[in-house]
Amino acid sequence: MTIWYGGDYNPEQWPRPVWDEDVRLMNRAGVSLATVGVFSWARLEPRPGEYDFDWLDEVLDLLHAAGVRVDLATATASPPPWLALRHPETLPVTEDGVRLAVGSRQQYCPSSPVYRERARELVTRIVERYADHPALELWHVNNEYGCHVSHCYCEVSAAAFRAWLQQRYGSIDELNRVWGTAFWSQRYDSFDEVQPPRTAPTFRNPTQLLDFDRFSNDELLACFRSEVAVIRERSTLPVTTNFMGFFKPLDYWAWAQEVDVVSDDTYPDPADPLSTPYAAMVHDLMRSLGGGAPWLLMEQATSAVNWRPRNAVKAPGQMRAWSYRAVARGADGILFFQWRQSAVGSEKFHSGLVPHSGTDTRVWREVEQLGRELAALSALDGDAAIVGTLVPARVAIALDWTSWWAIEQPGSPAEVSYLRTIFAWHSVITSLGLAVDFVQAEAELSAYSLVLVPVHFTLTDPQGANLAAFADAGGTLVTGFGTGITDENLHVHLGGYLGDALRRVLGIWIEEFAPPAGADLEATGAGEAPPVPLKGEVLGGAADGHVWAEFVRVTDADTLATFTDGALAGWPAVTRRASGSGSAWYVATLPEPSALRQLVEQLVADAGIEVPAPVATGEQVEVVRRGGAVFVINHGADEAEVLVDGVDVLTGGAASGLRLPSQGVAIVVGSSSGEAAGG
Ligand code: GLA
Repeated sequence: MTIWYGGDYNPEQWPRPVWDEDVRLMNRAGVSLATVGVFSWARLEPRPGEYDFDWLDEVLDLLHAAGVRVDLATATASPPPWLALRHPETLPVTEDGVRLAVGSRQQYCPSSPVYRERARELVTRIVERYADHPALELWHVNNEYGCHVSHCYCEVSAAAFRAWLQQRYGSIDELNRVWGTAFWSQRYDSFDEVQPPRTAPTFRNPTQLLDFDRFSNDELLACFRSEVAVIRERSTLPVTTNFMGFFKPLDYWAWAQEVDVVSDDTYPDPADPLSTPYAAMVHDLMRSLGGGAPWLLMEQATSAVNWRPRNAVKAPGQMRAWSYRAVARGADGILFFQWRQSAVGSEKFHSGLVPHSGTDTRVWREVEQLGRELAALSALDGDAAIVGTLVPARVAIALDWTSWWAIEQPGSPAEVSYLRTIFAWHSVITSLGLAVDFVQAEAELSAYSLVLVPVHFTLTDPQGANLAAFADAGGTLVTGFGTGITDENLHVHLGGYLGDALRRVLGIWIEEFAPPAGADLEATGAGEAPPVPLKGEVLGGAADGHVWAEFVRVTDADTLATFTDGALAGWPAVTRRASGSGSAWYVATLPEPSALRQLVEQLVADAGIEVPAPVATGEQVEVVRRGGAVFVINHGADEAEVLVDGVDVLTGGAASGLRLPSQGVAIVVGSSSGEAAGG
């Protein structure tokens, strides 16, 4: 077992002599895994049906001789120009009817039978040739599915959408019922009349939009499956495709079922002060998608990227600190895009492990240091082992792509960012030093003591029943605003929202939404929505609420905080109902961060979870327990001091009293604090 180290290796960008230097430097850096061939379709099949594998044979042999394992790509992420020039219908079309052109990448319609067939043919050749190559460790299918083209509105997609709908609904009457086409005279007489939701005069049918999101996810997943099927015929090696964190178009719960190992690309902005809590949330998602199993950080940057308007470099030590942040949260691989920084092309100003300026550089020295350290960490075993160990959590947040798609549709009661709401809760819980998993609302929840359900807009009856059963069985359930407003087809749960099961377990119903609203911006320019004032001991006194508010009616619950102003004055903002030995809370707004922290402290206590004692001084010190180790990472500008006993495996010295500079890391084993793993 090892913590993989390396990155995307694109030797086709370089003359042959450079390849020898590449493998020599890879050995120097401790590179153990290289992702090869991601964008090499045009090189592997320069003309339709004419294949050239000689160069790739040589690359794989070179890597093998150097002891570098290979994550071999199926090379289907960017078709060569000849595909679109011969088959223009393979080019994707936007919702405005614009057909995208060649000369960039990912220019394929996911539903195109021509694209899928040519891709399958290429994968067949690759698999036949390399399935038994001794360098192979992993298959890397395509690359970042949907990154640039997640929805295609062309005629080929339209036909595929109709077939998908026919399968889902069986009859056009059923489609009309579920889509609510009685509204605005949208009735269809046959499936042939149904279109993708292209740009239209005003609001498009919400259920049509939602189904098109589902369909688009399914079409990309079908592309993935079709390649995987080819691989599985000839190879038993594990398969992955690189995810992109919280990527709205793809329901990664569905995708995660089909990969052997979860892998992720993540490029937090070094200039963003919230990068650390946000990346922590992304890493927690990747661990959760794999059911807790170790995952791979497939891509990150050694320093700057090139695709932001302004591209901040990483501070000295930051690449290392951020890499340990991923390891702490369950990663067993630290990889980068890309090995050698390009000299030409759109990404030549994106950092690499080998920078433009060569090896006498701070980036290269950090690359070598991290490689050495990860190799040493990989060798630890027994109580000190890190590779393969878990990050146990007693807190979970329900995450639901259908709700994400739905609440952000035009026509919702308020402008709600699904992700920011989830992030607000996640970052407060992690700031207490507690581990958090993401779960599906229908999942088995008995491993958790506290489950939070923010903005679960489209609640199915089984999901509602599962959440209620968790509270009935002794769990602490926290339901946030915007939950259970509709079912999975965007039909409103009548009679007070929430659905029957949550209404019962929460002991409330909702009379009307009253989200804070600024005056109409276009008319008066009056600006941002004002906060809604509220107060309650449970929030630490008076506080502001944001994003949402509503008129909550209590039937069988205690009111722990109330709104204090305007039409809402005196109405409940936070309620709690004891439910057997558990409890069910409702929070009708998004309290400001300090109040949310107060609230979370109560929730954690209510759930019987102990907040771990501080492990280090300092404001921006991240503390994560993985296996028997405590990771202490100083993201702040000032020095921090480690307060726990045990041994720092990075230095071999005593942990207690260790002073960590900015970006400093300690990995403490044998500490009594580590035993509380998971809080
Ligand atoms: C993505 C892609 C890579 C590269 C990087 C740049 O992660 O997979 O090919 O474009 O972005 O950050």
